Amino acid sequence: MLPVALSSARVHLDVPSRADTAAITAACQDPDIVRWTTIPTPYTERDAATFVDALVGPGWASDREYTWAIRRAGSTWLEGIIGYRTARRDLGFWLAPSARGAGVMHDAVGLVLDWAFSQGAPDVYWECYVGNRASAAVARAAGFSYTGTGPALIPGRDGAPTAAWQGLRRADGTPASDLPWPADSFADGGQLDDASPSGRR
Ligand SMILES: CC(C)(COP(=O)(O)OP(=O)(O)OC[C@H]1O[C@@H](n2cnc3c(N)ncnc32)[C@H](O)[C@@H]1OP(=O)(O)O)[C@@H](O)C(=O)NCCC(=O)NCCS
Repeated sequence: MLPVALSSARVHLDVPSRADTAAITAACQDPDIVRWTTIPTPYTERDAATFVDALVGPGWASDREYTWAIRRAGSTWLEGIIGYRTARRDLGFWLAPSARGAGVMHDAVGLVLDWAFSQGAPDVYWECYVGNRASAAVARAAGFSYTGTGPALIPGRDGAPTAAWQGLRRADGTPASDLPWPADSFADGGQLDDASPSGRR
């Protein structure tokens, strides 16, 4: 498939290019991105160039993985990455620390979900390593149901099996599970608010 750009009032998603390698390299020094993803560490500009050349372009061309740069509307600076892999219909994402807490990933996930559903996906899967509250907050806010904790699709950086919080968002909006989100997926370790349809506080 040819790459597709997606936009909301706040964010613009398009294809990461060689012009983005400095921004990707800077962001991938962040300890939280290192901790919760499988990017190489230490991360160099050469890793970013390999990512753009070997994963992004071929991923679109082969329909294996669609990867977008996340930019704020009106800016060309890359703030993050979001990818959708077609085999398991799963999402992966990260944001540079300076872009967090402003709903940027919230919008990016919403755009990619809407696009995947418009392409015929019946549902989309999300997982994060157990304890990644920030990722779980994004998934909850995007309407994913928590479906359980199990072996991660993507093993840890060292190849060892890793436990993941797992979730599913159905295209028709019906809940995929009635399991409550784990209490420790909340930033304050608090309890679920039953009045919240998405399980958010
Ligand atoms: C996971 C990660 C992308 C989340 O980033 P983020 O900045 O928290 O993402 P967003 O701001 O879009 O997330 C929504 C949060 O912002 C808040 N927010 C602030 N302004 C908002 C707005 N205008 N609209 C919507 N949400 C807004 C939401 O309330 C929500 O926070 P809460 O649910 O904890 O209350 C980021 O922490 C990260 O890159 N972590 C390291 C890599 C990683 O863990 N990737 C995921 C691997 S599975």
